Amino acid sequence: MDHFLYRDGALYAEDVSISEIAAAVGTPFYVYSTATLLRHFRLFDDALEGLDHLVCYAMKAASNQAIIKTLGDAGAGMDVVSQGEYLRARAAGIPGNRIVFSGIGKTAEEIRTALTGGIRQFNVESEPEMAVLNAVAIELGVIAPITIRVNPDVDARTHAKIATGKSENKFGIPISRARAVYAHGATLKGLKIIGIDVHIGSQLTDLAPFEQAYTKVAELTEILRGDGHEITRLDLGGGLGIPYAHSNQAPPLPTDYGAVIKRTVGHLGCEIEIEPGRLIAGNAGLLITKVIYVKSGEDREFMILDAAMNDLIRPAMYDAHHDIIPVIEPAPATLPQTYDIVGPVCESGDTFARDRAMPPVVADDLIAFRSAGAYGAVMASEYNSRPLIPEVLVNEDQFAVIRRRPTYQEMINRDTMPAWL
Ligand code: LLP
Repeated sequence: MDHFLYRDGALYAEDVSISEIAAAVGTPFYVYSTATLLRHFRLFDDALEGLDHLVCYAMKAASNQAIIKTLGDAGAGMDVVSQGEYLRARAAGIPGNRIVFSGIGKTAEEIRTALTGGIRQFNVESEPEMAVLNAVAIELGVIAPITIRVNPDVDARTHAKIATGKSENKFGIPISRARAVYAHGATLKGLKIIGIDVHIGSQLTDLAPFEQAYTKVAELTEILRGDGHEITRLDLGGGLGIPYAHSNQAPPLPTDYGAVIKRTVGHLGCEIEIEPGRLIAGNAGLLITKVIYVKSGEDREFMILDAAMNDLIRPAMYDAHHDIIPVIEPAPATLPQTYDIVGPVCESGDTFARDRAMPPVVADDLIAFRSAGAYGAVMASEYNSRPLIPEVLVNEDQFAVIRRRPTYQEMINRDTMPAWL
């Protein structure tokens, strides 16, 4: 459920009309709903009720500081994967002891920043990383709390580019080698092993892979405890999918996911962390764009928008489906028209949807992409020298620009000329 609904024939974000925001900030732009962000965070928080737990929002999904602060104020922790994300979370007021640091390529500099600034734990992904973390911790005279990410070799049954839990993926250490790596980790003076981490992929629409992975984590917990390790915390990653197409069957709910967690690892007495990103932010954001032209091809109509693949890369990159709706609700009996919906960037990959049935549109009509809150703005680029588009946050009847559109001059002025030119 989200808070983007038609009212009297016009699309609203909570109590603010999308057309009004468009008039104020211009198109294209991203708009997020505070109520939806909070609702989704609380669904996870409630789903883990009864367990000692922390929901660490995977801020890679949407990392504007206003979004981070909204969730942080509600009690969320953060899952970060770079120094930039770490510093962004800190800038948004998240205390270090609510930040977990994931990722397979943490550099010594990134580790130093987090160890100095405060961190809840590092999710270590390899032995070489463990060695660097140990060395930096000793150099700083601190002890780094760690979990080790295991790769459970489970098929997440999702898009190949976002599956992470098969043995051929680059993530974690093979679960078969876990005992040896934990034994080695326990000898390192700069580290304190506190738990196990797992994350098997993103946009999972079936709970069975979670169940398999978490069952393996539970077995491993018992084995490692038997080896003398204190396993007090389990980080179970993110990955629960969202409904992208209204026509499709909805994926399982956070409460069903919570039941899997309780069933598989609930008896271990561990503190549980999860790292959802997409389910919190995905359906809390829209991309709003305007029709520039409608153009007739040989056998099809092209709807040319002012948003492009540089603003929302998911369709080009993962063949992702996003529902696309008009901001002004069509009259009930309107007959649909079929369009290829494209952006202005100079490559055919800049296609959002083919043969999509839509109410007929004309130039200047406003169009909304649904489910664009996660992996939308954060994956944008300035390809074709198109400036990054603004982000807007709505809260009931208020809205605020939370990242403004840069001017062309600001974008161009970032280049510097070498002395010889
Ligand atoms: N934790 C770790 C270690 C992750 O790698 C990820 C996502 C998450 C948590 C959050 O997963 P979520 O709950 O959002 O599924 N750009 C792609 C998605 C990439 C996901 C990468 N890792 C897309 O647009 O579909």
